[in-house]
Amino acid sequence: PAAVIVAIDGPAGTGKSSTSKAVAAKLGLGYLDTGAQYRAITWWMLDNGIDVTDPVAIADAAGKPAIVSGTDPAAPTISVDGVDVAGPIRTQEVTSKVSAVSAVPEVRARITELQRTIAATAEPGIVVEGRDIGTTVLPDADLKIFLTASAAARAARRNGELGGKGGDLAATQAALVQRDAADSGRKTSPLAKAEDAVEVDTTELTLDQVIECVVTLVEEKR
Ligand code: C5P
Repeated sequence: PAAVIVAIDGPAGTGKSSTSKAVAAKLGLGYLDTGAQYRAITWWMLDNGIDVTDPVAIADAAGKPAIVSGTDPAAPTISVDGVDVAGPIRTQEVTSKVSAVSAVPEVRARITELQRTIAATAEPGIVVEGRDIGTTVLPDADLKIFLTASAAARAARRNGELGGKGGDLAATQAALVQRDAADSGRKTSPLAKAEDAVEVDTTELTLDQVIECVVTLVEEKR
């Protein structure tokens, strides 16, 4: 059978990563975290003193770093110029700057090409999570999922992931809402639900229920 491609999009804190990794592991598919790629290029820009408030400077530098993603759902990896950046890409500094960097068309073109190359060679298939996978990166995906949840639920989950280090819940929620607004409002390939995506509101669902729901949908397509 042909490789199966699953696109999982949605705003921050909806459970995209946990769901995508678990679904990929259960079905024996690869897993690609495209947010990690945008975080990695952002980390590199900051580390190299690029002014990330200057879209021209970002565009000029966009082609320089070599970004490599490992697609094993049990141990996904991300490196920039051979350096493992799995830890540093999750800092507050990177999180607060990534929307500005990822809005630059040259950055998106570069990262989108990487993503398409990875998906095209994935056997027996791959789960790709992000913001514009169903709309732009892989419009021919076999299954498109759009995960949503209330802002309050998303903030609570994000603080939970940070193990109490997320700080004030209201501040976490405000930061998430602000990042989603930037991601949804950008000109090039914004965060959006594809017309043919299945929307799953995870507010009242456990992670296991969401995983089960997506696995069933993939199995129906295979
Ligand atoms: O998924 P995660 O929260 O790690 O994504 C970090 C950021 O990367 C998003 O807020 C967004 O700015 C950018 N992103 C994107 N397109 C994707 C995935 C992530 O612009 N497909």
